[in-house]
Amino acid sequence: MVDIHTHILFGLDDGAESLDMSVAMAEMAIEDGITHIVGTPHAHPNHDFIPELVKERRDELQSRFEGRLTFATGCDFHLSFENLQSIRLYPERYTVNQKNYLLVEFADFSIPPSMDQALHDLQLAGLQPIITHPERNPLIRVKADRLFRWIRQGCYVQVTAQSLLGKFGRSAKESAEEWLDAGAVHFLASDAHNVTTRPPILSSAFSYLRKAHGEEVARALLVENPLAAFEGRPLPFVPQLAEDAGLSPGATPVRKKKRFWIF
Ligand SMILES: [Fe+2]
Repeated sequence: MVDIHTHILFGLDDGAESLDMSVAMAEMAIEDGITHIVGTPHAHPNHDFIPELVKERRDELQSRFEGRLTFATGCDFHLSFENLQSIRLYPERYTVNQKNYLLVEFADFSIPPSMDQALHDLQLAGLQPIITHPERNPLIRVKADRLFRWIRQGCYVQVTAQSLLGKFGRSAKESAEEWLDAGAVHFLASDAHNVTTRPPILSSAFSYLRKAHGEEVARALLVENPLAAFEGRPLPFVPQLAEDAGLSPGATPVRKKKRFWIF
């Protein structure tokens, strides 16, 4: 499996605190069947984002795990004015493995209308935004029509693996399941921060997905699509978005019908 969203690089944000913790997380990921992992520290006003340091930490870990686990860098990109200015000039500082996919996170307390334009501008700059864990964001959960609009506009969606298993509460789990049914999920990732409460574990979500949606969907969301993002290729598996998704005002669409997947 390929994990495109983790905080495995130590000493950069609220993820791994030490090299030892990064190493323990990497061992856990390998044990779980993860072959590629992206360290995506927050590029957020609360944390200094220093691209040189991010790369240094990645290289340090890569040298210890050569041949066992492939590391790349990216970030959890906050749509602040400063970040948006900077990414125009230096996209490779922020994108997954310095290709064209970008993890974008939204604040829990406010998503101003200007964010729609910000996403569009990123796309015009040739970047492919991936909205991270919208199922954990109460603002997006209650106004899912916005999320669906972003998807129609060409954005992708990454759900946290543990959300599907109920570790982020019932609302997050229900939204994740509804959006899976609606064809609105393109990636699962661990968003790992440590080895205890937020571990780099994807296998349990893989089993869950395989049971609920079949092997092909599990592979699409945990192997094929994330690998394509890692390598900067178009996504091989894009589900058809439910036609009525988000169109009824204020309601999260529920489609129990299995979605048709375009392979
Ligand atoms: Fe994250």
